[in-house]
Amino acid sequence: MLRRDFIKRSAAALGIAALGKYGLAAPAIGAETVDAPFSRRLHIPPLLENSGSAGGASPFSLVVQKGQHEFFNTVYTETLGYNGSILGPTIRVGNGENVRLHVENGIDQVTTVHWHGLHVPARWDGGPHQVIEPGETWKPEFTINQQAATLWYHPHAMGLTGEHVYRGLAGLFIIEDEVSQTLALPRNYGVDDIPLVVQDRRFFEDRSLAYVRSMHDVMHGVLGNFLLVNGMLKPFVEVPRGVVRFRLLNGSNSSIYRFYLSTDQPFQVIASDGGFLAAPVGVQELVLSAGERAEILVDFGGSSAGDRFRLLVDQFNGNTYEAMELQVADMKAEQTAILSHLREQPRLEESTADRTRRFAMETMSGRGMGMMGGNRLAINGKKMDMNRIDEKIPLGSTEIWQVENRSATMMQLPHSMHLHDVQFNILDRNGQPPVPVEAGRKDTVLLWPNDTVRLIAQFLDYTGIYMYHCHMLEHEDDGMMGQFEVVNATGTV
Ligand code: C2O
Ligand code: CU
Ligand code: CU
Repeated sequence: MLRRDFIKRSAAALGIAALGKYGLAAPAIGAETVDAPFSRRLHIPPLLENSGSAGGASPFSLVVQKGQHEFFNTVYTETLGYNGSILGPTIRVGNGENVRLHVENGIDQVTTVHWHGLHVPARWDGGPHQVIEPGETWKPEFTINQQAATLWYHPHAMGLTGEHVYRGLAGLFIIEDEVSQTLALPRNYGVDDIPLVVQDRRFFEDRSLAYVRSMHDVMHGVLGNFLLVNGMLKPFVEVPRGVVRFRLLNGSNSSIYRFYLSTDQPFQVIASDGGFLAAPVGVQELVLSAGERAEILVDFGGSSAGDRFRLLVDQFNGNTYEAMELQVADMKAEQTAILSHLREQPRLEESTADRTRRFAMETMSGRGMGMMGGNRLAINGKKMDMNRIDEKIPLGSTEIWQVENRSATMMQLPHSMHLHDVQFNILDRNGQPPVPVEAGRKDTVLLWPNDTVRLIAQFLDYTGIYMYHCHMLEHEDDGMMGQFEVVNATGTV
């Protein structure tokens, strides 16, 4: 999507000017207040893996805790993190590996930990049903049963997801397999294989996180005016001369981002949410909605030590950020060429589907509450109810989900659709085949106003209750979520 189209669609989607009108009790600060940009080195979350090196071995331990984080020089902001003041360690496992975790809830609210993108039994999915009470420890155990991919984990307690993520709870979950380990790709974590968790935040004058939800914030999402990369404002990272891999996560609550380089230099997209694309796709920009991931390769082979690039991010409310600086170091990269082929990635055929379900993601107009107050976010006219199963899916089915972003009001909002349990293929978007970067395995898909996306998925291996929802977290928390239950083919679990 070209920059002007992105901005045009974004502006249309917002309907009314979003920024500057926070509806906050105290004013939020403006974004000009970042001092000494690009002077602090990018934080690389520590690795938790079974190899016996740093981080120890399974059971992996995650402690949900309160912290104080230095977003601004010498000012400490209250945050939440896993094993630290913000974000969490990167969990890296192999396909087939048995993973055990101990998740301790050290805060005074209930929380959960959901493995976004992971195909695991429902009871270990970490959705709203798997509550961890304050002081308790949850001990999930599952076997990795899917191909190499960049996934993530985050809280998912009913009505609290947005707030918990905003305060800092999120981490990456990387799966490797025999293909990812034999392809000539950068895989030296933090050196040429660099995780980038991108999020936006707004702050009150005292630099506390401004997470409040006026009706305006619920509709448009809590949108920040500061951009964080791995919990930092305007960091820098050194890159070797050659091919560098970035694992991008749009970890924001509700923002849509368009990523590009200051030089408009092309880069290669090699993976979407659920794994490698069949082959690298060359682009100059990439759009990710909240919850989506991509792996990209940038070739710094033609650069000299000391060259600087900026990673730029347009946010859909019209803001543009110089998110971070990439400084070319006097170091040669291990990989200097870009592969032409990655892995066979068969797509599910429409003809194999057992049935089609339809989902309307709606902004409905309520009565008697005024236009803003009366708007309600829903899927198929319903708001989330933990006691209601919305869809029953026989185990082993292949299904087409036809998802429409349909607004009955003047307010045209973007949405996204995320399914737990599965990775899907996009069959088509508004009748057109998916663009190459969306043609691979996906678990979250953006829908601009009036878009219709048909996706196709197989529901295999596990029965039980899973969620589907808009991944704009303020929408999710407002009830734009439903439950599907995978049932034994006879109809009962
Ligand atoms: Cu990333 Cu149901 O969530
Ligand atoms: Cu999920
Ligand atoms: Cu939504």
